[in-house]
Amino acid sequence: MTKMFSSNLLRRICCRSLPSLLGTIVVLWFCSSQVLVAMAAAGTKVGYLPRVIQEQPLPFELETGYIGVGESEDIQLFYYFVKSESNPSDDPIVVWVSGGPGCSSFFAMTQEIGPLIMDLPKNVSVLPTFSLNPYSWTKVASFVYLDLPVGTGFSYAKSAKNYTSDTLEASNHGAEFIRKWLIDYPEYQSNSFYVGGDSYSGTLIPMFAQAISNGNDAMLKPAINFKGYLLGNGVTHFSEHDYTYQFALGYGLISEEFAEKSYDDCIRNPDKKPFFTKCQLDMVQFLMLTFVNNAAYILDTSCLAKNGAEDVISGKAFVPTKRFNGVNANIFNRYLLCRSDLIAAQYVNVESVQEALHVKKGSIDHWEQCRGDLPYNNNVRDSMQYHANLSTKGYRSLIYNGDRDLFIPSLSAEAWTKSLNYSIIDDWRPWFVNNQIVGYTRTFSNNMTYAKIKGSGHLAPSVTPLQCFAMFKRWISYEKL
Ligand SMILES: *[C@@H]1O[C@H](CO)[C@@H](O)[C@H](O)[C@H]1NC(C)=O
Ligand SMILES: *[C@@H]1O[C@H](CO)[C@@H](O)[C@H](O)[C@H]1NC(C)=O
Ligand SMILES: *[C@@H]1O[C@H](CO)[C@@H](O)[C@H](O)[C@H]1NC(C)=O
Ligand SMILES: *[C@@H]1O[C@H](CO)[C@@H](O)[C@H](O)[C@H]1NC(C)=O
Ligand SMILES: *[C@@H]1O[C@H](CO)[C@@H](O)[C@H](O)[C@H]1NC(C)=O
Repeated sequence: MTKMFSSNLLRRICCRSLPSLLGTIVVLWFCSSQVLVAMAAAGTKVGYLPRVIQEQPLPFELETGYIGVGESEDIQLFYYFVKSESNPSDDPIVVWVSGGPGCSSFFAMTQEIGPLIMDLPKNVSVLPTFSLNPYSWTKVASFVYLDLPVGTGFSYAKSAKNYTSDTLEASNHGAEFIRKWLIDYPEYQSNSFYVGGDSYSGTLIPMFAQAISNGNDAMLKPAINFKGYLLGNGVTHFSEHDYTYQFALGYGLISEEFAEKSYDDCIRNPDKKPFFTKCQLDMVQFLMLTFVNNAAYILDTSCLAKNGAEDVISGKAFVPTKRFNGVNANIFNRYLLCRSDLIAAQYVNVESVQEALHVKKGSIDHWEQCRGDLPYNNNVRDSMQYHANLSTKGYRSLIYNGDRDLFIPSLSAEAWTKSLNYSIIDDWRPWFVNNQIVGYTRTFSNNMTYAKIKGSGHLAPSVTPLQCFAMFKRWISYEKL
């Protein structure tokens, strides 16, 4: 079996709970080159951050700043620029957008792929400290962690009505951002550029990539030396959840009989009544069967489980896990996963932190790691056309999926990467770290590499940092996985 089907209920619950659970989850309008010449100061160095690495000066180079985009540069996009720890003048630059929509890329910088790792505070009321991430992707590439769309993190609009945007606008804002950033940083105009993100960014990033490519085709200056894109457990067509059943069955979370029954109720023989259909009741049962796991990482217990949320908030559920323990390095921690939004916000809203980050006073009221109330119209529900178009242009792509994610099952990525109909040039095989199989990979003739990470979750680098760093390092260096 089993044909899969979609459920509005499941979809709604998944997508709503993404941001909080994860503590987070073309009418082209281009700026003219005249506008480009007219602006802005480069980013400002951040030499020190409170509570980071025992108050020592930062051992990596961080600059922050704003770039104005849109009409009269009313939209001010905030970024954190971390230079590569290898050779910043030659290394590639990745512009990274965390998912949500509305999650600040501060998350990526401090809890996932960046140079810092937020430590577990021993007491919820105390600010967290930060230590260095030995598996930071900035060891081999520079990263611009971008707060996009407008309203996310520290990005703001000067006039209230400009907070409204949609996926296409956000993509164009992103492409305009990079061109203007390159004017501020002319020394990087010949570096290779990539864009990347995870979760919700599966929709935005391919459109962002196409906006960059279209701008290059239209000879906008400065040209972006654009090479490709990467996506982790990305939403691609919102029928992803169709694969949730197959996945749940495959991992033994539901029975064969229940999967059959639901298929019958939802696909073969659906009720005609509008509410409380057999299918919807099945969905409720499905959620009860599966969501006692953490849907973003089914090997873990849920933030939503009985007593789970209260225990986590009160600190009772505090189970310190050992980090960076050789191959088993694991920065994943349930408390951090469930409450990182709260912990991060306590820290980032401290005045001295915002001063250190050179945040403009009064530009936003309150920083949130994931903003749920963004007036953002998530209007593109399928990015397949963009993947197809980017493929014809020869851009490289890395599509990676933690295989224990119920939100965006790896099965879905395996299906859609194949459905682009490119021939396979390196067929399904294991890939290794320290002589251990850590996942499976295949590469297509459109320069698209798919990588599955065994035993990992929705935000794979947070769960399996060593493996994901090895994957990124090999791919960005044009090596085989
Ligand atoms: C932003 O607001 C200004 C003033 O209300 C308006 O003229 C402009 O078109 C808006 N810009 C964008 C990008 O929406
Ligand atoms: C946590 O910190 C707060 C504020 O410093 C303090 O009032 C409280 O007693 C602490 N709780 C525990 C369990 O240590
Ligand atoms: C893909 O490219 C074709 C040909 O350039 C274009 O007509 C189409 O609009 C593009 N699709 C999207 C979704 O941008
Ligand atoms: C993509 O693949 C084609 C054909 O294999 C190759 O010629 C091209 O250089 C590749 N592009 C990149 C960016 O690697
Ligand atoms: C791939 O091939 C299948 C079967 O021929 C076809 O239905 C589908 O539209 C193709 N996909 C693309 C992206 O061209």
